Amino acid sequence: MKKLKLLLFACTAASSVSGQSSLPVYLDNTKPIEQRIEDALSRMTLEEKVAMCHAQSKFSSAGVARLGIPENWMSDGPHGVRPEVLWDEWNQAGWTNDSCIAFPALTCLAATWNPEMAARYGKAIGEEARYRNKNVLLGPGVNIYRTPLNGRNFEYMGEDPFLASQIVVPYVRGVQSNGVAACVKHFALNNQEAYRHEVNVEVSDRALHEIYLPAFKAAVTEGKAWAIMGAYNKYKGQHACHNQYLLVDVLRKMWHFDGVAVSDWGGVHDTREAIYNGLDMEFGSWTNGLTWGESNAYASYFLATPYLKLLKEGKASEKELDAKVRNILRLAFRTTMNANRPFGSFGTPEHALIGRQVAQEGIVLLKNSPATPKKEDFVLPIDFSKAKKIAVIGENAIKVMTVGGGSSSLKAKYEISPLEGIKKYAGNRAEVVFARGYVNDFLSKEGGMKHDGMVINDVVDTRPAEEITAEAVAAAKNADVVIFIGGLNKYDGQDCEGGDRKGLELPYGQDKVIAALAKANKNLAVVIISGNAVAMPWVNDAPAVVQAWYNGSEAGNALAAILTGEANPSGKLPFSFPVELKNNGAHALGQYPGDSAPAGYLNEKYSEDIFVGYRWLDKQKIKPLFPFGHGLSYTNFEYKNLKITDNGETVSVNFDLTNTGKREGSEASQVYVALPEMKIAMPVKQLKGFAKTRLSAGETRTVEIAIPKSQLSYWDESKNNFVTPTGTFEFLAGASSADLRLKGKLKF
Ligand code: BGC
Repeated sequence: MKKLKLLLFACTAASSVSGQSSLPVYLDNTKPIEQRIEDALSRMTLEEKVAMCHAQSKFSSAGVARLGIPENWMSDGPHGVRPEVLWDEWNQAGWTNDSCIAFPALTCLAATWNPEMAARYGKAIGEEARYRNKNVLLGPGVNIYRTPLNGRNFEYMGEDPFLASQIVVPYVRGVQSNGVAACVKHFALNNQEAYRHEVNVEVSDRALHEIYLPAFKAAVTEGKAWAIMGAYNKYKGQHACHNQYLLVDVLRKMWHFDGVAVSDWGGVHDTREAIYNGLDMEFGSWTNGLTWGESNAYASYFLATPYLKLLKEGKASEKELDAKVRNILRLAFRTTMNANRPFGSFGTPEHALIGRQVAQEGIVLLKNSPATPKKEDFVLPIDFSKAKKIAVIGENAIKVMTVGGGSSSLKAKYEISPLEGIKKYAGNRAEVVFARGYVNDFLSKEGGMKHDGMVINDVVDTRPAEEITAEAVAAAKNADVVIFIGGLNKYDGQDCEGGDRKGLELPYGQDKVIAALAKANKNLAVVIISGNAVAMPWVNDAPAVVQAWYNGSEAGNALAAILTGEANPSGKLPFSFPVELKNNGAHALGQYPGDSAPAGYLNEKYSEDIFVGYRWLDKQKIKPLFPFGHGLSYTNFEYKNLKITDNGETVSVNFDLTNTGKREGSEASQVYVALPEMKIAMPVKQLKGFAKTRLSAGETRTVEIAIPKSQLSYWDESKNNFVTPTGTFEFLAGASSADLRLKGKLKF
């Protein structure tokens, strides 16, 4: 008791002798952050400042223990919070309390066309990160989908800068509402994995600003992202992690970014460039840091001892260092030193539910035609009054998909496979049989997928391919409905960091299997699980095709809900599916993966310029396999009565949307704009607005989409800025980039 009294006295004395707080300014939560930063900075030694600018372990950097400024702890990102790894190594630490909820991949999130879903996703993943004491989540990724071969497309938000911008902003805000920084990556022009450390991208300023930068810009200027990660590749001959134009001229000067710029892991190559070209924190320069000896220790990082030496010798001034430390301190005050940040939560059913909602809204029904000449004979949704036996065929029906793919690999608390989901949904309404259909080379060679020494996908099958396929065909013949579940996976050379796909085709002979199944049973639905477009030579023989992404913990439940019609599909493609690779601009022009010019220097010209994705298909008048923005529903929507109004700063596009079918459903309506004709080349049309509307059967609603005129602009290279032209603009509204039902014009 006596002790307590004394303590109370001491506290009162410290805080109010003269009625004023005796807390140092930097610790005083009531003071503005900028004041706190200056105060903290003034108390720090040169060594303490430099220590903050580089990693101290695989995923952390130093704080200032003496001043009570905590360390920074980062984690991938972007689909769930990665398991703990060893201090100096990529290997898992073997904790037993770090199994997360795996959320759907960002391609799926973009396919929801629903910013509200992005807000929930961001808030939930931020809660998971916060609970795990991470103050920086390494995601989301917004590199534009330039080629369907890019191994990391599944971690990004598709081919259109406007769609990606609309989805990234709520994600960032959601994460940061937890006092956790979102670290938007990879800034910029990291559009392929092949030669990712060497490739030097050559792109026009116009394509850079109109196509490759807008999502980053939105994340920074609207989402107010607190962190950004540089990319591995080069631009203007300089690595993106210390690139004068990207990090200084664009990020800081044009967009007024006040957060931290961190390097990608191993993306720093030069001390001087790192000092002067806008990088704040260096990570991952050497893997297995200390285990490789002192010369590879964190102290040898480009921004560690070599930097300190330059400073001490007077060869670098403290000005740049202070600028970096200010940014890092700002991060601390926004995150670890924000006394009001919430506590977070981890692996909860609420988070799983959000993942499931996103998955259900993002799965895309690509095709759904009657399986017989009878108009009503649809394969999907599965009609249990007729389907008493369902054959599920394909490796992706049983394969773990939350593991693999590189840095976004997760240790999920659980993962419902498609087969489990379908069995659960069928219950006692139908018998579900499974046959493998095909086996991927990797499994047959390696005997199971290993992750940190543990076999995760114990689904080895060493029988000859013919036998495996014959078994599936027999199962298909004997079933009322056949659901093939294949696609890509997260092994090297598929949807995986560090390498690209070799072609557009499905791997492991799946095309042949699907063709054989189509012959065996006309009631066939093909489900593709991938983060990329694939070729579908069998598309005319499969009455139903579903694009199902990597959907995380709840993948199987979400897919089964869609296949059985419990949920009505409403996802739409965030990128085009070309028929063949040469229908893609980068490939048509032979500009992938870059030419090997002078030794060690790989140049890649983005000659297709602004004509990426549907912009290229429109320009070349090429019909895609499935267009950008495409996605069907189990109901139908009608578009009528377009009204376009000039409201000064904005244009408002209104139309009546009616659900003409028999069940409730949601439609992602899209507005594309054709800018007035000009001397410079213009896309035929560009996405400038969208809205997702839920309608019950028979219901009509007026959809209103407001488009700021500033959005109706192009990058004028002579002005180094966006310019809104004057003239006649055409507005096209409808269901996809190739299904525009209403057209109107406005002159301003
Ligand atoms: C990836 C980043 C990731 C980092 C840390 C790098 O290889 O490119 O996206 O955040 O590793 O795991």
